Amino acid sequence: MDIRIFEDNQELDQAAARLIADLAKAKPDAVLGLATGSTPVGIYRSLIETAAAERVSFKRITTYNLDEYVGLTPDNEQSYAYYMNQHLFSKIDIPLNQTFLPDGMADDLDAFCAKYDRMLESARVDLQLLGLGHNGHIGFNEPDRELTAGTHVVTLDEATREANARFFASLDEVPKQAVTMGVGSILKAARILLVVRGADKAEVVKRALSGPVTTDCPASLLQLHADVTVLLDKEAASLLA
Ligand code: F6R
Repeated sequence: MDIRIFEDNQELDQAAARLIADLAKAKPDAVLGLATGSTPVGIYRSLIETAAAERVSFKRITTYNLDEYVGLTPDNEQSYAYYMNQHLFSKIDIPLNQTFLPDGMADDLDAFCAKYDRMLESARVDLQLLGLGHNGHIGFNEPDRELTAGTHVVTLDEATREANARFFASLDEVPKQAVTMGVGSILKAARILLVVRGADKAEVVKRALSGPVTTDCPASLLQLHADVTVLLDKEAASLLA
């Protein structure tokens, strides 16, 4: 694993944006796996600035998001589809029909999950951006005795709902289920970019990067991947040896 530690959060954002922009330059039809949450907000902001300054085009780029809540329409401000449009897609030149997210409104969610996996399989993600949950989740793959390889419907841990309640009017409004890429789908990406910040994530960073590989900490499975870059702020890195 290539672990890089940053003193300054803006530098961290710029480093992540640089990796994505360089890929888009080197491979104009690259396939990106994208994440939502707090962590990527600054990365997307920096990527938009870099794309404008260096004329990086996303016209031939395709994107696949990790996850989406069940039951939220794309025009719901809390949906990840809304988030992606707001924070990235509307501010770069990517055609929206080349951006894909799990459909949490699908009538047949299982059929949708199988279809999303077929799409991922033929697209082949070049770079997957990941954040890290306090409980070690990646995407919405929550700690469990067993993990699911492919895209699937997941019941969110109460801790995850509580952590995400900050984006909703109340905890009651946080959906109980989500559709997420599975760990197998995530690990198929050619390269993985894990970004984590904050002292509150120091413990889970240590477990994910230097603890045993275990389904109790889904992010620890990243240790099995050959090409993982980890960008940490110094607080998140504070418990690493
Ligand atoms: C988001 C996702 C989640 C988040 C994680 C960290 O698409 O898949 O795994 O990356 O919950 O969230 P933040 O960045 O809000 O701390």
